[in-house]
Amino acid sequence: MAKEYSKYFTKPSLLDARKRKNEEVSLIDYNNFDLINNFGVNKTYKINTYGCQGNEADSEAIAGILEKLGFTESVELEDADLIILNTCAIRENAENRVFGNLGNLKKYKKNNPDLILGICGCMPQEEKVIEKILKSYPYVDLVFGTHNIYKLPEYLETVLLSKERVIEVFSQEGSIVEHMPKIRANTKKAWVNIMYGCDEFCTYCIVPYTRGKERSRKPEYIIEEVKELIKEGYLEVTLLGQNVNSYGNDFTDLDYRFKDLLNDLNKLDIPRIRFTTSHPKDFDLETVKIIAKGGNLMPYIHLPVQSGSNSVLSKMNRKYTKESYLELVEYIYKYIPNASITTDIIVGFPTETEEDYQETLDLVEKSRFEGAYTFIFSPREGTPAAKYENTLSEETKKERLYELNRKINDGYLLGNQRFENKIVKVLVDGQSKNNSEVLAGYTENNKLVNFKGDSSLIGSIVDVKIYEAKTWFLLGEYIG
Ligand code: 5AD
Ligand code: SF4
Repeated sequence: MAKEYSKYFTKPSLLDARKRKNEEVSLIDYNNFDLINNFGVNKTYKINTYGCQGNEADSEAIAGILEKLGFTESVELEDADLIILNTCAIRENAENRVFGNLGNLKKYKKNNPDLILGICGCMPQEEKVIEKILKSYPYVDLVFGTHNIYKLPEYLETVLLSKERVIEVFSQEGSIVEHMPKIRANTKKAWVNIMYGCDEFCTYCIVPYTRGKERSRKPEYIIEEVKELIKEGYLEVTLLGQNVNSYGNDFTDLDYRFKDLLNDLNKLDIPRIRFTTSHPKDFDLETVKIIAKGGNLMPYIHLPVQSGSNSVLSKMNRKYTKESYLELVEYIYKYIPNASITTDIIVGFPTETEEDYQETLDLVEKSRFEGAYTFIFSPREGTPAAKYENTLSEETKKERLYELNRKINDGYLLGNQRFENKIVKVLVDGQSKNNSEVLAGYTENNKLVNFKGDSSLIGSIVDVKIYEAKTWFLLGEYIG
């Protein structure tokens, strides 16, 4: 029999999500929550995470809440009592993958009618996704969005004990939740959110709709979290935000920005601080100079450019030009000569001409990128660019992507070659995927290194001498 809907039935609206309320960001302290309920005892969970590091960080909070409720992680997906898909809406193929997996999970539900199937993250923030779940995936028990993870105990109680279906997705929520419990995926490298949401509204992008308005965490909470991580033996922290360079712009009573945060974290006793993602229009020169101080601030900057054509950049609402981007890049290389810069590029944006595309190739060459994520434009319903006229054939888009990738790979190799015969510091992640005798880890410049070494080195930072650069990784010899 189909489950009844519970009192929790709230659907999202992309139109409402676009609105930015001027009210103060409210703070919810999870320490005030009573998690005495232990209805998860003797039950197991599995979370499948799609998309960006923001989702990975959210999944760590979801796992934290679940384990507080008594759940333990299941080794195999098919044995889990609770499966949650934490989803990504950035491109259509990301969404199709989730729907495919949701279809596959139907058989688990048949085998085990008590299985609870949940879906959360960015996809449920779109009303069309909710409609599709209601229509085609009625066996999903629990749907929540990016703003209400902290209410998971309530939802699970309803699904488990009252056997009712929960669908609750808020379009807008201006809050920040502090002190959510976390089960981190890695014991040496941690994600630390410094802000949530995005106010940029690049015309192709769904994120400002799915993640809500930009809101920065107070510095004291961030610093407290990093200090806690240091105590736990973490060696690397990656600061997360959709546009870390606008950190603090929403503070009404505090003159504290990204550069100040980096400056404060630079004083802490942790070997590596990284951050992502940067927006070129907000990356100020003072921030470059702070990173140039070095120490634990890593010489690696992910600086999405999206396009090298001023006409396309303007239609994307990126608010910078090819020239100002190149100026910033040169400034970074001047002050941080050892820097590795990577980027994101979209090809096939509506109306992108051959000349526009050539401008992108030109920019790639001039920027000396050492890697990039490249994408074909994917129209996202509800965003302005989804309505722009598409003048390009699929073939042209693919050809552009292919040629661009070739150029990007050249830069990748050149970037790797500069480390040949040098000694680099590697944070050892584990054994290489292809060979258990080989260890794998990342350098300060975020280069993947493979080298022979004892598994006792996993989780520490070691010196490795590079003897050969490949396109995707470096080969080295353990020094000490
Ligand atoms: N189509 C293709 N790529 C996109 N990105 C964001 N939205 C879209 C879209 N609609 C890319 C951008 C961004 C990265 C995270 O994903 O390059 O920087
Ligand atoms: Fe999307 Fe632009 Fe915000 Fe990045 S800055 S999340 S591309 S809207």
